[in-house]
Amino acid sequence: MMTGPPANPLSGATPSPGRTRVLIVDDEPPSRALLERLLREDGYQTSTAPDGETALEMIAANPPDLVLLDVQMTGMDGFEVCRRLKAPESPVRLMPVILVAGIGEDHKVVGIEAGADDFINKPFKPAEIRARVRSLVRLKHYIDELDSAEAIIRSLAMTIEARDAYTEGHCDRLARYAAALGREIGLGQEEIAALERGGYMHDIGKVGIPDAILHKDGRLTAAERKTMQQHTVIGDHLCHELRSLRLVRGIIRHHHERWDGSGYPDGLTGDRIPVLAQIVGIVDVFDAMTTDRSYQAARPAAEAVAELERGAREGRFHADLVRPFVDLVARGVIVPPPRG
Ligand SMILES: [Fe+2]
Repeated sequence: MMTGPPANPLSGATPSPGRTRVLIVDDEPPSRALLERLLREDGYQTSTAPDGETALEMIAANPPDLVLLDVQMTGMDGFEVCRRLKAPESPVRLMPVILVAGIGEDHKVVGIEAGADDFINKPFKPAEIRARVRSLVRLKHYIDELDSAEAIIRSLAMTIEARDAYTEGHCDRLARYAAALGREIGLGQEEIAALERGGYMHDIGKVGIPDAILHKDGRLTAAERKTMQQHTVIGDHLCHELRSLRLVRGIIRHHHERWDGSGYPDGLTGDRIPVLAQIVGIVDVFDAMTTDRSYQAARPAAEAVAELERGAREGRFHADLVRPFVDLVARGVIVPPPRG
């Protein structure tokens, strides 16, 4: 049985049914009509599709908040439609899908493997349908809010980048470089996604650093450097409510740690530094060297690579990460922007 979503730290209420759109997919007109009547009585906006292909087209054109999906349909069956909606690359994979059928236990296993969020057995019990729809709509609302909270944080990160003329495109490059290195060393999909988000958000905490320090020409004083280093801790605190950013938070806090413990903010050493943070740390240093900064002109990729290799020899970076990164640069997979 589904439990309700965790308390939402961002805001509140379940959306009114009137703003919630449910797509009913069923090849039998009577059960389509029955479900539609039931949900309309509860105030939901409904649309219907008579088969799987039509449903996929409708969802692609205008994704609803929830899909009620009949399993036994002529043509593409409900399992296949569900599988396509829930595929890792599907843009609507987080949209809840309820499978509707006279399902036995083994059908349920197929449904779970296809990614279904819940099941309803025919013949329908109206109270059960209402309860399950309500519960999943609440979950969808919660996911949407997390999504928009993340979008806000991401645009904040871009705003920070835009304040600094020297770092144009930095976040975008970091996301690409870090994901390329993650793929090269065989990390999973979740980690790669975290590296992409981490590339954008790693310096989010700079929002809390005074402009006079952030944009100072010339060297920072020791006190200013200490303040600047706080961007890692500030960023970590900014994101701590968002469980969806669990892996990204490690990147935000630890991307300036160094293998030998010489980094900040926690002076972690070796494997205690999350590998994703080590990756972003390496590509961050590479990008800083290969683009113009207030304190130095862009250096050729070969020089930046030599610096990273020296860093690995001297213990600041993990050689097992620097080596594949250097390889990616040598193969032209990672190409710094042209020097101006
Ligand atoms: Fe940073």
